Amino acid sequence: MGHQAGQMLLPLGLLFAALSLGSCIPLQRAPGRSKLLLDVDTPNLDTMAADGVKAKYMSPAFITLTSPCHFTLLTGRYLENHGVIHNMWFDTKTGVKLPYYTTQGISSWWDNGSLPIWITAQRQGLKTGSIHFPGTKAKYQKEEVYKKLVEPALFNYSNETNWRQSIDTVMEWFTADNLDFITLYFGEPDSSGHKFGPESTQRKNMIAQVDRTVGYLRQRIRESGLESKLNLIITSDHGMETVLKTDEIHLRTVSNFTFKDIDFELLDYGPNGLLVPKEGKLEHVYSVLKSAHPKLHVYKKEEFPKRFHYANHSRITPLLLYSDPGYVIHGRYKVQFNKGEHGFDNEAMNMKTIFRAVGPAFKKGLEVEPFESVNVYALLCELLSITPEPHDGSLEVTKPMLREPTDGHGLG
Ligand SMILES: *[C@@H]1O[C@H](CO)[C@@H](O)[C@H](O)[C@H]1NC(C)=O
Ligand SMILES: *[C@@H]1O[C@H](CO)[C@@H](O)[C@H](O)[C@H]1NC(C)=O
Ligand SMILES: *[C@@H]1O[C@H](CO)[C@@H](O)[C@H](O)[C@H]1NC(C)=O
Ligand SMILES: *[C@@H]1O[C@H](CO)[C@@H](O)[C@H](O)[C@H]1NC(C)=O
Ligand SMILES: *[C@@H]1O[C@H](CO)[C@@H](O)[C@H](O)[C@H]1NC(C)=O
Ligand SMILES: [Zn+2]
Repeated sequence: MGHQAGQMLLPLGLLFAALSLGSCIPLQRAPGRSKLLLDVDTPNLDTMAADGVKAKYMSPAFITLTSPCHFTLLTGRYLENHGVIHNMWFDTKTGVKLPYYTTQGISSWWDNGSLPIWITAQRQGLKTGSIHFPGTKAKYQKEEVYKKLVEPALFNYSNETNWRQSIDTVMEWFTADNLDFITLYFGEPDSSGHKFGPESTQRKNMIAQVDRTVGYLRQRIRESGLESKLNLIITSDHGMETVLKTDEIHLRTVSNFTFKDIDFELLDYGPNGLLVPKEGKLEHVYSVLKSAHPKLHVYKKEEFPKRFHYANHSRITPLLLYSDPGYVIHGRYKVQFNKGEHGFDNEAMNMKTIFRAVGPAFKKGLEVEPFESVNVYALLCELLSITPEPHDGSLEVTKPMLREPTDGHGLG
C-alpha cells in the first residue's frame, strides 16, 4: 500500500506459496484481478490452468489489505478472528501508528491468538520456509518459520532478477534442506497498480512479468526433479480498483465535523477508516459523518455489517468507515495520490483475485466456481497431512479440486 504519504512500500501482489508434502507440493499465489489477466497474454498461467485447477476467481477477506488478507490465507480465519485487522500497528491510547514494514516486525500484532500454518506444520514435524511473505518476520508463541528471508526496509519489489533468485532459493530449500512447505511473496502487480492504476500499461507489463516468473518457477520445478512431488498454488490477497479523483470524500470539509471531537484516527489509508471519538462525542460524530457523502459508509462497531466478519475484535474502534469502490477517504489533509487502490468491499468484482493450483494432488484442466480465501488454509493442511487449528473455512469447498483419494497424502 503506498499510502501514508509514501512512507510505506507497496507489498502485495503475488504471493506464492510452495508446499511439498509426502509427495511435496508448492503452493503459490499471484495477485491481480482475473479480469485484467484476461487483457494480458499470460501463456504460462494458461498452461498452468490446463495442467491443473483454476478458480473462476477467489474472494478475499475484508478489509482487502495486504497483511490482513495474507494472514487469512495462513490461518483460515476472518480478520475479526485472527486480529491482524490492518496493515498498520496502532495504539489508540498514545496515537502511535506504524507503517507496513515496521509492523512486520511487531510479533504482538501478528501473534494475537491464531497460529499461521508454518508454526502448526512445524509442531507436527514438518519444515517450513518463507520469502518476503507478510507475517514471516514475527514470532508466534515464541516460535518462528525455520528458513526465512525478510526484505530490507527499502526494497524494490519489482526486480525480476531478484524474483528468479528467490525461486532458486526456494528450489534449494526444497532439495538441499528438505523443506516441506514454502511461502513466497512478490509485491507486484500491487505496486504498479497503486502507482499507475489497474488499467495502466505498467501494470499490464507487470502481469506479463508475473507470467514469465510462473514459467520460470515451473521450469525450475521440473529441473529440480520435483514435478511429480510438488504442489504449487498461485493466488493473491486482493484485486485493484481505479481511484476516482472527482467528488472526493474529505472529512475535514464535512459540515459540523471537527477533528477536535476525535481522540484517535486511522485515515488516509484507501477506503477504510477507524475513529475513536472523545468521550460523549460518539453520537454527534456518528450522525454528522453518516450523512456526509453518498459513497461513505459509517458504522458503530456493533452495527457493522456481519457479512464482513471484520468488526468483532477488541482492536476495532467504536466507529468504522468504508467507502464505495473508487472512493478513498481523506482525513485532515489530502495525502493520498495513488491511481489504484484496494481495501474495498470484498463483494466488489475488482477486489476478487486469482487462484491456480497444479501438482500431483490436483486434477488436470478443471475450472471451479468462486470461493472465499478462508478456505485455502484447510486445503494446505490437507496437502501437508497436518491437523488444522480451529478456522473459519472448510475443506469441502476445495476438495473437488483434488484427485482421489485425498487421504493418502503423506501416508503413502
Ligand atoms: C490481541 O491483542 C489485543 C491488543 O491489541 C490484546 O488486548 C489481546 O489480549 C490479544 N489477544 C490475544 C489472544 O493475544
Ligand atoms: C526496480 O528494479 C527494476 C529493475 O528490475 C527497475 O526497472 C525499477 O526502476 C526499479 N524501481 C525502483 C523504484 O528503483
Ligand atoms: C535487481 O536484483 C539483482 C539481484 O538481487 C541485483 O543485482 C540488481 O542490482 C537489482 N537491480 C535493481 C535495478 O535494483
Ligand atoms: C450543523 O449544526 C447546526 C447547528 O446545530 C445545524 O443547524 C445544522 O443543520 C447542522 N448541519 C449539518 C449538515 O448537520
Ligand atoms: C464476537 O467474538 C467473540 C469472541 O471474541 C465471540 O464469543 C462472539 O460470539 C462473537 N460475536 C459475533 C456476533 O460473532
Ligand atoms: Zn497495495
